[in-house]
Amino acid sequence: MSQPSEQLAPEPSPKAGPVQSPVKGVQRVLLPAHKLPAAGSRSIVREGGLSLAIFSVEDALYAMDDSCPHGGASLVMGQLQGFMLRCPAHGLQFDIRSGCMSAQGGLAARTYPVVVDDGQTFVTVASLPPPPL
Ligand code: FES
Repeated sequence: MSQPSEQLAPEPSPKAGPVQSPVKGVQRVLLPAHKLPAAGSRSIVREGGLSLAIFSVEDALYAMDDSCPHGGASLVMGQLQGFMLRCPAHGLQFDIRSGCMSAQGGLAARTYPVVVDDGQTFVTVASLPPPPL
């Protein structure tokens, strides 16, 4: 005679949100699986007053503010060629890896490291300044 199977409640899917990093003073935003862009695609995560544009390029994820440093236009739907993202408003281009424009100097979009820790993906959004020497 078999035992009745136990009905398990479905696991709630994690929501994006700030979490404390194991590194003191560092804050991270959890990217839930449904917010991870497919290869060659992008997504947007809004959390804690931040709008983060997430790009998947060449098997890696890149995160940047979804606000152009020129005039504040949303960058997430900009045209992407390689790693260069063209702002849809006036056409300035930023490298999604560094936030820098292709020409030296000029404006820079803010970028953030994306890390995978224990199977979960996070964007590191803030850290404390280094301790005084
Ligand atoms: S707002 Fe992006 S280039 Fe002007």
